[in-house]
Amino acid sequence: MDNDIIVKVDNLGICFNLAKERVDSLKEYFLKFTKGSLHFEEFWALKNVSIEIKRGDFYGLVGINGSGKSTLLKTIAGVFKPTEGKVTVNGTIAPLIELGAGFDMDLTARENIYLNGAVLGFSKKFMDDHFQDIVDFSELHDFLDVPLKNYSSGMVARIAFAIATVTDPDILIADEVLSVGDYAFQEKCEKRMEQLLANGTTVIFVSHSTEQVKRLCNKATWLEHGKIIMTGDAETVCDAYSQRY
Ligand SMILES: Nc1ncnc2c1ncn2[C@@H]1O[C@H](COP(=O)(O)OP(=O)(O)OP(=O)(O)O)[C@@H](O)[C@H]1O
Ligand SMILES: [Mg+2]
Repeated sequence: MDNDIIVKVDNLGICFNLAKERVDSLKEYFLKFTKGSLHFEEFWALKNVSIEIKRGDFYGLVGINGSGKSTLLKTIAGVFKPTEGKVTVNGTIAPLIELGAGFDMDLTARENIYLNGAVLGFSKKFMDDHFQDIVDFSELHDFLDVPLKNYSSGMVARIAFAIATVTDPDILIADEVLSVGDYAFQEKCEKRMEQLLANGTTVIFVSHSTEQVKRLCNKATWLEHGKIIMTGDAETVCDAYSQRY
């Protein structure tokens, strides 16, 4: 693989099996399964998707709800295995994909910082050393001993973003995490992402704000029904996408 290319998605297809009927219990499921009367419908969430992301790109994904953006990010992050095609990743990934993933809502923010750190593979010592940074960045000093279930979604996003960006990952994946933050926090996250970029991190970014994608990203891909409509510089792709919608 070309040394400049950090993520290569090659003719990727992701197929989900959707249950066609409702099965209400495990017993019913088992009976239907053994009788062979379970029916599934194949659904291709992504089909023939190829992209190349270069080291240092700030890469945007745009597309309406259900177009396959999160599925693509999850496949790059290793959550889904390609049904078809191939995904090659040349570096470490800090995934900010689903809000609250890697958190336990019954634990306090303080406990969750350590839990999420462990999920991301950081040592206890590392988390001790960076605990204050995380708390400072998320500005939640007064809420550290409150269970996460009592946090607003913006507060959870603050902590998740602060933890994921505490190191300089090779690749930062940010799926709409900023959209729940308030204006001041969005601005702070944008600054942090640009700082990471300056230190060599590649960012893959999903947002429904084409204005934001144009401002931050150099390249972008527009997805629709799991297929690529257009890839190019962020401005051209976003303009074409906004004209369509
Ligand atoms: N685990 C799954 N099982 C079955 N279908 C799924 C699964 N994950 C996603 N899908 C389907 O794949 C399609 C693409 O979903 P995806 O979440 O990637 O869209 P998206 O572009 O991120 O949308 P949004 O803008 O709403 O976040 C949708 O139709 C969705 O229902
Ligand atoms: Mg999504």
